[in-house]
Amino acid sequence: MEKLVITGGNRLSGAIKISGAKNALLPIIAASILGKTPSILQEIPDLEDVRTISEVLHELGLTVRREEPDTLVIDSSSISKCEAPYELVRKMRASFLVMGSLLGRCGQAKISLPGGCAIGTRPIDLHLKGFEALGAEIVLGHGYIEARAPQGLTGARIYLDFPSVGATENIMMAASTAKGQTILENPAEEPEIVDLATYLNTMGARIRGAGTNVIKIEGVAELRGATHTVIPDRIEAGTYMVAAAITGGDIRLDNVLVEHLKPVIAKLKEAGVTVDEDINGVRVRSSGKLKPVDIKTLPYPGFPTDMQSQFMSLMAVTAGTSVVTETVFENRFMHVDELKRMGAHIKIEGRTAVIEGVGKLTGCPVKATDLRAGAALVLAGLVADGQTEVGCIHHIDRGYDNLVGKFRTLGADIVRTPTG
Ligand code: UD1
Repeated sequence: MEKLVITGGNRLSGAIKISGAKNALLPIIAASILGKTPSILQEIPDLEDVRTISEVLHELGLTVRREEPDTLVIDSSSISKCEAPYELVRKMRASFLVMGSLLGRCGQAKISLPGGCAIGTRPIDLHLKGFEALGAEIVLGHGYIEARAPQGLTGARIYLDFPSVGATENIMMAASTAKGQTILENPAEEPEIVDLATYLNTMGARIRGAGTNVIKIEGVAELRGATHTVIPDRIEAGTYMVAAAITGGDIRLDNVLVEHLKPVIAKLKEAGVTVDEDINGVRVRSSGKLKPVDIKTLPYPGFPTDMQSQFMSLMAVTAGTSVVTETVFENRFMHVDELKRMGAHIKIEGRTAVIEGVGKLTGCPVKATDLRAGAALVLAGLVADGQTEVGCIHHIDRGYDNLVGKFRTLGADIVRTPTG
């Protein structure tokens, strides 16, 4: 077991490159199951979640090979199994994303139930409703969900009660090779949905409207492999933008699509941070004198829930009162207790957190409770007095490529050491 030890107080400066987006890549790797020839994926970050979904594909009989520096070659010409086991789905909930493409490719899929999760109960009812609408029979039992469509899937009109990212992706994958047209209403509009549609279309699918509130999919007989470069990770970029803001720094981030970060940039500017955008990236500067801002998380293009905890760290050291409202997930305030241990003044009332900014946080041992909570604690550690030790960093390894190396390049005092 390892931990991160951060000595606060350094002002960050310099430039780093943002990696490919984890949340675009996971469904794209899952979609590769649909291709009858190999796929080549580029800008692959070095992440635990990418290793886990690669293991899932390996279990199914596909070959996944990493080639340096950042390419993944997936040979999906043959599949030996249509079942994803508990050990892998338990490790990463997003393993459930293989269900749609397995159904499309094999006419059946058996996946372990994802179970609970640190940031809320996270049901999968919308995924299952979508598969059923496409003609699959769903059977639950012995901790597994089985979906069967021996005669293949048939296109349908599907309305999502909530624009779930995962359900939109799973349904898009399943519908790509269904007979006839699928119309998906109220889908998620996240950039990761658009990237998945781009990839599926390069594989031969016929998807229109991804990124809007209606997606139309004309089913095709089969898909082939494709070469695709994954979009930059907007949440990784947003996290480093907050790092510049919280340390009163001046940093440049390359490989950023600013149009994916509009709500984050708007809130940083409202807080008094200077953000200069250009075609390939952003420069983020802060005098360190910031104003409090209120945030409400919403599906895209609203403020992303995956940036909520990082902004909370920023507001924890910003004089005045800010209010953070989480509407996407229940129970996504697990970082609050850890931030309070560092001296933050935060009160939670239901889905709202009221933050009274303090002059200084103080370093102490804290635990990452999930991926973005871990990022928030690292950010707090960058400005805290003395040393902050962040434990349970396997959560951070799931989604931040070379976090220590990137922060050190920017001048942070951060090291990874064994615990105890
Ligand atoms: C994805 C992202 C995650 C991000 C989230 C919201 C990946 C791998 N993960 O997660 O980082 O925080 O989008 O932007 O891309 N819901 C239901 N029924 C369902 C599915 C979802 O009620 O069948 C609810 C969830 O409980 C949650 C909300 O919808 O409250 C949003 O979930 P969803 O958009 O599905 O998130 P994920 O795809 O799991």
